[in-house]
Amino acid sequence: MAKKILVTGGTGYIGSHTVVELLQKDYEVFIIDNLSNSHISVLEGIEKIAGKKPHFTKLDLTDKFATEKYFNNHHDLDAVIHFAALKSVNESVAEPLRYYKNNLESLINLLHNMITKEISSLVFSSSCTVYGEPDKNPVNEKAPLKKPASPYGKTKQIAEDILQDSIISVDFLKVIALRYFNPIGSHQSSLIGELPIGIPNNLVPFITQTAAGIREQLKVFGDDYNTSDGTCIRDYINVVDLAKAHVVSVDRLINNKSKEHFEIFNLGTGKGYSVLDAIKSFEKVSGKKLNYILVDRRPGDIEQVWADVSKANEILGWKTEKNLDETMLSAWNWEKKYRGIQE
Ligand code: NAD
Ligand code: UFG
Repeated sequence: MAKKILVTGGTGYIGSHTVVELLQKDYEVFIIDNLSNSHISVLEGIEKIAGKKPHFTKLDLTDKFATEKYFNNHHDLDAVIHFAALKSVNESVAEPLRYYKNNLESLINLLHNMITKEISSLVFSSSCTVYGEPDKNPVNEKAPLKKPASPYGKTKQIAEDILQDSIISVDFLKVIALRYFNPIGSHQSSLIGELPIGIPNNLVPFITQTAAGIREQLKVFGDDYNTSDGTCIRDYINVVDLAKAHVVSVDRLINNKSKEHFEIFNLGTGKGYSVLDAIKSFEKVSGKKLNYILVDRRPGDIEQVWADVSKANEILGWKTEKNLDETMLSAWNWEKKYRGIQE
């Protein structure tokens, strides 16, 4: 019998790519999403790629009664991957209560119901934002956590604390927290991808929308950092590679391979690239000159952070397959297909 996996936030960017990978590994997938930051049409793309459909329920995980009702009807789930959260750093500074309420209430409701129904396996979406500005790079999982610059980042730290505390009191609960670095790119089919609502905050969708003529000009935030070319350095990880790490994590939990009840893994490529490197990569693979300008630093940005991924490589047996150029091309192909741009 196919194992049943609940994917919260499964119509979102990383969730949709993970649902595809799960379906392709013959898991039966159940999505919960309130569609606050995704479109129902994503389900069509998923079905076209995987040749089968996930189950979908529109539900807000902060709704205690609706969540409880859902679990009463789905008490036989084998594992849960919890993506559902609000994720805009800027927005979280402007509306902290909305972020604390959404991201923490949804986690608490989910955990409560998992515990009640004795569903033991949970994969949680965390972020490298918990490291703040690391003392050294590449950063490994033992690095001290720094106070995050935004309420969004704080929700991830608090969520990890909630999970760590929960495994102490509930002996059957097993959690894997995955700390993503910077996920970018799209599925190679271009049938699903990153679709930010409104003006993108993140670099890569801003690059592709500028090249597509939707944005006039990319602003590069800061050229006076203490890095090789003065711009910030990040670890850009391909979203399909990232999605595959979730399947490996679910397998690990379901097959009782975890060494501890709470495990943390960094998910990145292990390589840092500057903003200008990312632009050069885009220009190379697209053959287009990007209209960009160097401007002042963006408040709250970390100067440089990239991952030590040896723990995920060794223990999960997972590693990234796609490089920056391939991933940038996938992002551009998705943008072109979505906007109907012919070249
Ligand atoms: P996304 O916004 O595309 O997907 C999140 C999904 O969750 C959306 O479809 C949204 O509608 C849904 N959702 C939000 N609140 C909900 C609620 N209360 N009930 C039900 N559904 C709800 O974001 P993403 O980029 O796919 O990120 C997925 C997860 O990974 C998030 O937890 C995010 O914080 C984390 N993360 C993302 C990044 C990144 O750069 N994309 C980096 C690190 C961590
Ligand atoms: N950048 C620009 N111009 C832009 C957008 C971004 O120069 O228009 C720069 C930023 O200053 C930064 C780099 O590009 O140096 C990457 O910025 P992103 O906004 O794409 O990503 P961040 O590293 O700031 O943050 C992202 C997510 C967070 C998450 C974090 C770590 O937005 O939610 O990665 O996973 F926590």
